Amino acid sequence: MMTLTLDRKKFLSEYWQQKPLLIKAGFANFNDLIEAEILAGLAQEAEVDSRVIENRAGTWQVSHGPFASYDQFGDSDWTLLVQSVNEWMPEIHALLEPFRFLPDWRLDDVMISFAVPGGSVGPHLDQYDVFIIQGEGQRHWQVGERVKQANEFRPHADLKQLQDPFVPVIDAVLEAGDILYIPAGCPHHGVALEASLNYSVGFRAANTAELTSQVADMLLAAEAPNYPRYRDPQAADYGAGYQVSAEQLAQLRSFLFESLQQTDLDNLLLQVMSQSKRPLPQPDFALTWADVAACIDDDMLLCRTAGARLLIDPPQQQLYASGDCYELTNSSREFAVALAEQWLERPLRDYAVALQHQQNQQLICHLLNDGVFHLVSEADDDSEDA
Ligand code: SIN
Ligand code: CO
Repeated sequence: MMTLTLDRKKFLSEYWQQKPLLIKAGFANFNDLIEAEILAGLAQEAEVDSRVIENRAGTWQVSHGPFASYDQFGDSDWTLLVQSVNEWMPEIHALLEPFRFLPDWRLDDVMISFAVPGGSVGPHLDQYDVFIIQGEGQRHWQVGERVKQANEFRPHADLKQLQDPFVPVIDAVLEAGDILYIPAGCPHHGVALEASLNYSVGFRAANTAELTSQVADMLLAAEAPNYPRYRDPQAADYGAGYQVSAEQLAQLRSFLFESLQQTDLDNLLLQVMSQSKRPLPQPDFALTWADVAACIDDDMLLCRTAGARLLIDPPQQQLYASGDCYELTNSSREFAVALAEQWLERPLRDYAVALQHQQNQQLICHLLNDGVFHLVSEADDDSEDA
């Protein structure tokens, strides 16, 4: 694992979600994890979410990938941004591991940008917390204090920027391995001084609408639901049919909150928190325990699928993975915790003792068949799926 040089205690108490921070040489002797050409090639794939943002003398243009060629963009004033590169390349997924002192369920993805001189996306705010790691080349970054209210405008339909200038509290030219932490809501502006790569480790935060809708999806998906239903408040006279009374409104409001409280809300939230951003790729055929046992003998590697989320509930009685819940017992708890801890690959053989228990055999089969983990042969690592 790469070593992140950071006083975590101080960071959590003084900076996380509060103040921006420049961590000089946060990754000492940082070597790029991708070449610009490979990133550009990835953005030629239809499934990959990518954009090019150009600034031509104050006129902003946004083009969406896949990109057949980049010749039309010229030598300056544009940036290629590729989302969720960690889900396509395991070596990029490794970049998230040093940030696991923060909760796994908040980790979103690694976005990588390649900019040519003058390339920028303009001054803006993000709703997500982000660590920007400088790779090759230099970029000039300015970051302001967190703002509650900001005037935003759209110089292009797909681009939001800040109307008003901000006072930078960080104003620095970043070099390879420098890390900029930008809390949600802090204005920032980066301009490439030369061809340069930036890796953005983003942390998601649901808003009310997103969270409510995710919980509602879980409630709707429940088997044989027997939810309470609204009942009118007792009244001698409801008045005109069109007139909603304050009592009815109060009744409906408390019905919503109280009935939600009566559901197993913690369980629903843990299911939501453990959902992956995209469906996880599943094996071509359902694996049985006999198939998995053969893979131990074949020295296969057990790989956590990038984008899979594994969480353990507070009393360590359940494992949540990709929206599913697995009951834990004294014999499966340790195995489940080891699986949740594992970030990249491990020899399946490491789990041979744990896998003598039938419950653990069932658990690993479920997780493999749901795509949370997959097996690859040690010889060709991530290329050959089992
Ligand atoms: C960039 O990589 O240039 C933009 C990233 C950001 O500001 O969020
Ligand atoms: Co930003």
